[in-house]
Amino acid sequence: MRYLIAGNWKMNGSLASAKALTEGLAAKAGTASKVDIALCPPSPLIPLVNAAIAGSALALGAQDCHANEKGAHTGDVSALLLKDIGCRYVIVGHSERRADHGETDAVVKAKAAAALKAGLMPIVCVGETEAQRERGETAAVIARQVTGSLPEGATSANTVVAYEPVWAIGTGKTATTDDIAEVHAQIRGLFKAGPDALRILYGGSVKGSNAQSILATAGVNGALVGGASLDLEDFWRIIAACP
Ligand code: PGA
Repeated sequence: MRYLIAGNWKMNGSLASAKALTEGLAAKAGTASKVDIALCPPSPLIPLVNAAIAGSALALGAQDCHANEKGAHTGDVSALLLKDIGCRYVIVGHSERRADHGETDAVVKAKAAAALKAGLMPIVCVGETEAQRERGETAAVIARQVTGSLPEGATSANTVVAYEPVWAIGTGKTATTDDIAEVHAQIRGLFKAGPDALRILYGGSVKGSNAQSILATAGVNGALVGGASLDLEDFWRIIAACP
């Protein structure tokens, strides 16, 4: 199975920094890569990034989409438009959106369904908070989120799942490889369409220095990378660490 390393730039970047980072990555990636690499910039930077990745092995993704195809939804972006402007992937259900915008599993599922309908590959994020882990609720939270957030018609060929423990995001803490392997195995078991080729990413403080052990962990098929994806050399170290 091909690994996927996706860079989630979150609300960071400018025209100048996005151009420099993307051109640097495109030069390193060349025209062929043994792993899939996606850049998910803030929406206004998508056209610039799309132009800079032309002809390279890099692919484009977005950080969110609306569940509806079009209409009166000020500030939102449709999956159809993201597809139209060159995206291949869209992250849905990131814990920051679940927390900042009150997105429920049902909302995430509707967004993922819209992505599939538009021909985008949703990267559906799940993960427990620190309090939930301490209370021993991790498995229950993951089960609820996976069954509630994955849309009908999700297959291993059209959908990616990202396990991101909320307490590991942007904190420098990472889950142990044993914990990662356990949750990834659980997600694989919950996947209705058949677990075999489902790509499950780990996310949460992945960086060049810890990528090798995380990416070699059983059941890990790539990484969703936040902070380190803004650093050309560190992001590339993560890509190069794929087995
Ligand atoms: P981080 O973010 O790598 O900065 O922890 C990961 C994510 O939120 O996708």
